[in-house]
Amino acid sequence: MKKYKIALIPGDGIGPEIVREGVKVIDAVSEKNGFEIEWIEYPFGAEHYLKTKELIPEDVLKEISKMDAIYLGALGDPRIKPGILEKGILLNIRFYFDEYINLRPIKLLEGVNCPIKDKKPRDIDFTVIRENTEDFYVGVGGRVREGMNKELLEIKRSLYNVKFNLDIESEGDELAYQLGVVSRKGCERVIRYAFEFARKKGKNRVVGVDKANVLTDIYGFWREVFEEVASDYPEIETDFNFVDAITMWFVKSPEYYQVIVTPNMFGDIITDLGAMIQGGLGLAPGGNINPDGVSMFEPIHGSAPKYAGKNIANPIATIWAGAMMLDEIGEEQSSDNIISAIQDVLKEGKIRTKDLGGSSSTSDMGNAIVKRIEVN
Ligand code: IPM
Ligand code: MN
Repeated sequence: MKKYKIALIPGDGIGPEIVREGVKVIDAVSEKNGFEIEWIEYPFGAEHYLKTKELIPEDVLKEISKMDAIYLGALGDPRIKPGILEKGILLNIRFYFDEYINLRPIKLLEGVNCPIKDKKPRDIDFTVIRENTEDFYVGVGGRVREGMNKELLEIKRSLYNVKFNLDIESEGDELAYQLGVVSRKGCERVIRYAFEFARKKGKNRVVGVDKANVLTDIYGFWREVFEEVASDYPEIETDFNFVDAITMWFVKSPEYYQVIVTPNMFGDIITDLGAMIQGGLGLAPGGNINPDGVSMFEPIHGSAPKYAGKNIANPIATIWAGAMMLDEIGEEQSSDNIISAIQDVLKEGKIRTKDLGGSSSTSDMGNAIVKRIEVN
């Protein structure tokens, strides 16, 4: 029997509740299709950090590097300053395992209310491929007090030939900066992945997202690499959208999109919007993928501390992320089984969590999906 080892990080807030359902569903499908998952659970997250000051230690990352995948619930806790858990655990894992693809399907399933009037499941069915290791996420930045701002303003003044009406000598002057960095290799690999993905799935249009009209260096470069890579795929139509414009088109004409490839930060922003047009964050999964390494799967949403421990959060995003995980480790049949079961339960509409307008619990939803897998 095939056996996989998966690192399980339930995390904070609703994380443990939704991951419990995900594990339940994956265990059910593995039993049905004859393989075995060994779950290795880790305590990392807010509680553990408050107790021990530990985020995720390097020896654990090394240990996980021998496993098949990582299944994550959610991270974030109001008791901890923003950025600590996110950077110390989530981004740390993404970077450590060089998970350079963030794969986010935006698909409206049948039985789900779409907030855009008159849009049907066939209109909202595309995939956002978000770069996941570069851009404004590289962590290069700083804060400067006094003095330096004068220098920077001088540089700006000479570059743009503008006069700033700022009292740059004033006491307490302070500035902050953070740099976006992209590399040719970093752009190339994610853009190529998007074209290969389109080819494999029989999609004939790939849209690149950027802001090449203002951030001409960083995103002008991204666009150049996009064009180079695209020339290897003459059968696939291409287009560019500025990031501001794509937020409009997501609402107006989502049916236009098949595959989208985007730099990291724009991808972060537009996939929250994507999640809403597919019916809400409770339904939106994501995968942080290194095609040759250890990948991590999680819902797009956060830890929702307000709902923690109440057994009311929708576990579908997490269960769907579990299906993506099975697809990535080579259990495609089981992945399809889970997605069809989710679809069936939603279409039937008897079990609905609060976000879907019902009163079913987190575990009701997990159980209903398990039952579907067993009978399908
Ligand atoms: C996401 C999240 C993360 C991100 C945060 C929690 C660091 O918003 O996965 O979209 O910005 O990538
Ligand atoms: Mn996000």
